[in-house]
Amino acid sequence: MDRNQASGTLRGARVLITGGTSGLGLALVRELRAHGARIAFVARAAGRVHEVAQRTGAHGIVGDVARKSDIHRIALQATALLGGIDILVNNASTLGPVPLRPLSDTECEDFEAALAANLLGPFRLTKALLGSLVGAAEEGRGGVVLNIGSDAGIAAYAGWGAYGASKAALLHMSRIWDEELAGHRVRVRCVDPGDMDTPMHALALPDADRAALARPDDVAQALRALLESELAQSRNGAALADAS
Ligand SMILES: NC(=O)c1ccc[n+]([C@@H]2O[C@H](COP(=O)([O-])OP(=O)(O)OC[C@H]3O[C@@H](n4cnc5c(N)ncnc54)[C@H](OP(=O)(O)O)[C@@H]3O)[C@@H](O)[C@H]2O)c1
Repeated sequence: MDRNQASGTLRGARVLITGGTSGLGLALVRELRAHGARIAFVARAAGRVHEVAQRTGAHGIVGDVARKSDIHRIALQATALLGGIDILVNNASTLGPVPLRPLSDTECEDFEAALAANLLGPFRLTKALLGSLVGAAEEGRGGVVLNIGSDAGIAAYAGWGAYGASKAALLHMSRIWDEELAGHRVRVRCVDPGDMDTPMHALALPDADRAALARPDDVAQALRALLESELAQSRNGAALADAS
């Protein structure tokens, strides 16, 4: 697929991105907008949401994915603003207790908070948007869920217990959603973006050499290419089903 064809894949695609005001989420808002997608994004800090919405032309939604009571409002607002959802990117995330600490020193409430943002939020939002995603896939627009994982969900890093456990569960949940939704041609992926120079990374590892970290804009370009490919495969599945 050349760059022009690929750009066409996202034109008019309706995308909801959680955590769109900083780091990778903000880079994705800009990158997907630049390729013609229609975007709604979510974050908690209202002032920053309005500022990013104004600067990017994307629709900003103030909400907390870790709060059960926010999920349906976020889903309803996004589908109303965009007229449906073709791509959901579950990117918003918390590190859990900072400074990072061993599990034996992690409060149960902090562990719960990490699971609420990094696992239950993506689960609830995916579930709330399932009708839209399945509808989009069956109409031939394509339906994709991209969950942002981490290598901390694969390797056992001391001190990353709450975050790592939540990302491991997110990866496995993504695989199961993908199996279960294959019949509806909705594709679910979970991707580790690698170490990036973002506020979250600085919070976790303040002494890291920033020059050695990937730029969120570069990672967003790679994820945009992945989304184009996944969307095209979802659409092809629908076309094959119609032809049979
Ligand atoms: N940076 C890395 O090196 C790295 C490595 C591996 C994986 N990741 C993953 O990459 C993703 C993006 O990370 P990042 O480094 O770009 O993070 P970031 O710079 O800290 O940005 C996080 C974004 O999520 C929003 N957010 C946080 N909690 C939220 C909640 N409960 N509800 C709604 N929005 C929320 C934040 O805005 P508000 O605070 O205003 O809500 C912000 O827009 C995360 O899933 C992270 O786990 C990052």
